[in-house]
Amino acid sequence: MRTQVAIVGGGPSGLLLGQLLHKQGIDSVVIERRSQAHVLGRIRAGVLEQGLVGLLHQAGVGNRMENEGFLHDGTMIAHEGQMFRIDFAEHTGKSVMVYGQTELTRDLYAARDASEGKTLFEVEDAAIRDAETEKPYLTLTHQGKAMRIDCDFIAGCDGYHGISRKSIPADKRHEYEKVYPFGWLGILSATPPVNDELIYANSERGFALCSMRNDQLSRYYIQCDALDDPDNWNDDDFWDELRRRIPEEAADTLVTGPSIEKSIAPLRSFVTEPMRWGRMFLCGDAAHIVPPTGAKGLNTAASDVHYLFEGLRDFYASGDMQGLDQYSGRALDRVWKTERFSWWFSNLMHRYPDQSAFDQKMQLAELAFLRDSPEAQAAMARSYVGLPY
Ligand code: APR
Ligand code: PHB
Repeated sequence: MRTQVAIVGGGPSGLLLGQLLHKQGIDSVVIERRSQAHVLGRIRAGVLEQGLVGLLHQAGVGNRMENEGFLHDGTMIAHEGQMFRIDFAEHTGKSVMVYGQTELTRDLYAARDASEGKTLFEVEDAAIRDAETEKPYLTLTHQGKAMRIDCDFIAGCDGYHGISRKSIPADKRHEYEKVYPFGWLGILSATPPVNDELIYANSERGFALCSMRNDQLSRYYIQCDALDDPDNWNDDDFWDELRRRIPEEAADTLVTGPSIEKSIAPLRSFVTEPMRWGRMFLCGDAAHIVPPTGAKGLNTAASDVHYLFEGLRDFYASGDMQGLDQYSGRALDRVWKTERFSWWFSNLMHRYPDQSAFDQKMQLAELAFLRDSPEAQAAMARSYVGLPY
């Protein structure tokens, strides 16, 4: 089989890239290790920057999001029983779109199917070959048969556990990592959200987040031990603990119900450099991970897709390699700024096991500074709504 761009990974990065290329008349094949049902069963964050909203429209998949998503002009920050608001619209003129990653992925698959884009599910033993030459290719097994996909370029969109990053020789790659000493226990429940905007809460019992998918579906998180097991938490224990961590006015109006999903996510910051090896380009979680505080995972994947799409578009329009040559540098410049924001926001909001009394005072002083300083709020708002591409 031959295609122009072989895309490893059918998560949001690979699918969005595939649709943008399709609109430009550039052919791609997506290979995915799992089934479509498995990919659509993952529950991830649901806050989209305007840059990503724009890309979804550009890819022709923005309609359902526009109808069913919710625009948020600000967010609440709670600490020591009080709450203050960061007004995104006032500080940046922008807002964010609350729309679940699962729904977005569903829309991308529907568009790929409608455009008859080729997707191979449940592939095994995929390997990237000859990426450092002008004739890269993939080998894999699909439905029991060995296959080869020849291509001009490979997009490594296969997430943190994929093969793409590891296909770069170890002595050519530099990896930077920070593992946080806690996790997030999250639940999804068919209950109305406690507030019409998100509430990020710093409490002496640990962080809590009140988020949502729509007006009948809520997503809540509490900081927990990284090694904890979701089975240790029954729904009542979760709700009780959440109530203790959020301001009284929110706790009093919280509507609880059975959890539809319950899981623990670890928190990690990770970046690999460079994001290119010959004709293979890393995109999204394959190249970097952020802790979920601030919901930047999907949004950072989207900015990579934007830069890579531009490079590929220019190459196929005129043979110009400049955009592709600049891809890794442009993407990493924005990745590191977003890593900084996610690290800063995580440090601000969580309790650390080894936090001294002084460290706690510093955290509270930083929160008070944010509450009282329009300049600090503007800086926070700029990162939250998304840095420009
Ligand atoms: N061959 C084919 N597909 C693979 C392989 C492989 N060897 N290894 C992994 N994959 C697939 C995974 O099954 C997954 O569906 O690649 C896909 C990668 O998708 P994600 O992990 O979702 O990563 P990405 O598309 O970059 O999405 C960005 O934003 O909110 C964050 O982490 C969150 O998923 C999110 C991400
Ligand atoms: C979510 O809704 O899952 C969510 C929202 C905001 C975050 C993280 C997760 O910062």
